[in-house]
Amino acid sequence: MRSLLGIGLAGAAGFAVLAVVGCPTTPTTPPTGGGGGGGTGNAPTLVGLDANKPMILPFTVQAAYNDDTMFFHMSWEGDRGDTHDYFRYTNGAWQREGGVRRDAQATIDNDPLRGSTNKNSTIYESRVTFMLDDPNGPNAVAGFAEFGCMLTCHDNSRAMPMWVNADGEVHKYLPDTIPGRLDLWHHRLGRSNPAGQSDDQWVGQRINGEGDGDGGSRNGDAGTSPYATASTDDDGNPEWVFDPSTTGGFYAFPFEELFTSPMRFFADETAENLGPNAPLPVGIPYADAVAMGYVPSEGDTVPRRRQRQTEGSRGDISAAGTTFTASASDPLMGTWNSNIQRALDTGNDDDTALADGGVYNIAFAVHKGMVTVRDHYVSFAYTVSLNGGDADIQAVKIAGSGAGTLPDFTDTAMFPLTEMSLFLPGITSYEFLIGENEGLDYVDPATGESIGQSHAGANGLLTQGLSCRACHTAAEADVFETPPTGGFNAGSMEMHVPERGGVNTPTPLPPQ
Ligand code: HEC
Repeated sequence: MRSLLGIGLAGAAGFAVLAVVGCPTTPTTPPTGGGGGGGTGNAPTLVGLDANKPMILPFTVQAAYNDDTMFFHMSWEGDRGDTHDYFRYTNGAWQREGGVRRDAQATIDNDPLRGSTNKNSTIYESRVTFMLDDPNGPNAVAGFAEFGCMLTCHDNSRAMPMWVNADGEVHKYLPDTIPGRLDLWHHRLGRSNPAGQSDDQWVGQRINGEGDGDGGSRNGDAGTSPYATASTDDDGNPEWVFDPSTTGGFYAFPFEELFTSPMRFFADETAENLGPNAPLPVGIPYADAVAMGYVPSEGDTVPRRRQRQTEGSRGDISAAGTTFTASASDPLMGTWNSNIQRALDTGNDDDTALADGGVYNIAFAVHKGMVTVRDHYVSFAYTVSLNGGDADIQAVKIAGSGAGTLPDFTDTAMFPLTEMSLFLPGITSYEFLIGENEGLDYVDPATGESIGQSHAGANGLLTQGLSCRACHTAAEADVFETPPTGGFNAGSMEMHVPERGGVNTPTPLPPQ
């Protein structure tokens, strides 16, 4: 079972081990890749919600496919976000660092109702995701073309008005009246991308009103996920620290260097040679490190997640060719180009199969700026066509097979860009949209104002089959499409969503 240690030590030759043995305490400065000097600072701190975050995120999509493989390319500007959560040795004990931004706010506000109040810092991975629906397939989800992701967002979801912290991690789920499955392509930029991988999940109905985790129904596809999560032993020590033979002699890195250290992620032996950063530093069992002479010192930091090779349906999506290009002024901010690949038809029933001639519904989201839950950016529903005719996104057929040769997405004449505005959804829930909350008023704690729950578009959505885009744009600057019968200009999300409160601010609540 523990071949890891054997491989690591044998592979790295004796000198690294000797160096460590000869050095009783952990050196304070691990190798820094580029940032150097240790002077850039940027140690993670505890940060609350960012009220100045823009409502709109410009986002582009390109798509292509060959005989058996689908390629997506998605681009936006944001933070590097390739860090997630950590253990840090402080005052003689290991403590957790990082976590949910709204928990950080609850910690700052000392408000246990709205989040856990024990956060020490704000660190969270960025991600780009989409949900995919084949309206003619076995898992078709009625209403996804009209509602997009809003179909899965509910008043009792985490950080929404009917949720309290004691409810736990209530994920997205399909309404109890709408069966089917949405295929969730989940490119995690902290927990999977460093090893060139993506996560692959699906969203369905809750079973008997219950779901995965603490409720909701976002599920991992069958198989092995791209990361494992460290437990702690009876003494509170993390499950893994670095194998010094893979880090030039270091078991941990100083917390202050978290955002600059090349040791901000580690892998197990199955993933150490995967992805553009290979070889990745390797995590080994804590006890093995102690046996080798490791004694933790103040500030020592190790990742909480250890990346690993995905297996089975969970591992269907690869992320070769993904890049982050830092801006000139800030190495932690820049442009992400997410490249992901998957077999058109994986043969797995937890995936939506794609085929030549098909048109599918698709809706995107970007988590950026160390946030999760509804603080992400979302799109309306779009369509993607594989030579199936009219659609928002035209996937271009290219010759060949397999994922080995990536399309040259810099050639935008060949692979047309679909530009879209992603928006912050605030507390826009399925229940609100269909008029189920009529008569219920929330109170916005930020303004003290009462927030009505009627949606003038409910009828159009439910009885006329109109989608959000028949009546709304995302950004105010977006051009309204020619509305279908029944549609009309009812304003932008950029304008409307903040009127309902809860955008980068505390959540409006039912009257207490
Ligand atoms: C048939 C047209 C129509 C459709 C379809 C429609 N809406 Fe609306 N929506 C409206 C109108 C009208 C208003 C009220 C505008 C106003 O008050 O200025 C509104 C208001 C809103 C508001 C602001 C509510 C408030 O409290 O003022 C949000 C948010 C919203 N819509 C989201 C959506 C989303 C998301 C969808 C798609 C799932 C959607 N709408 C579909 C017509 C529509």
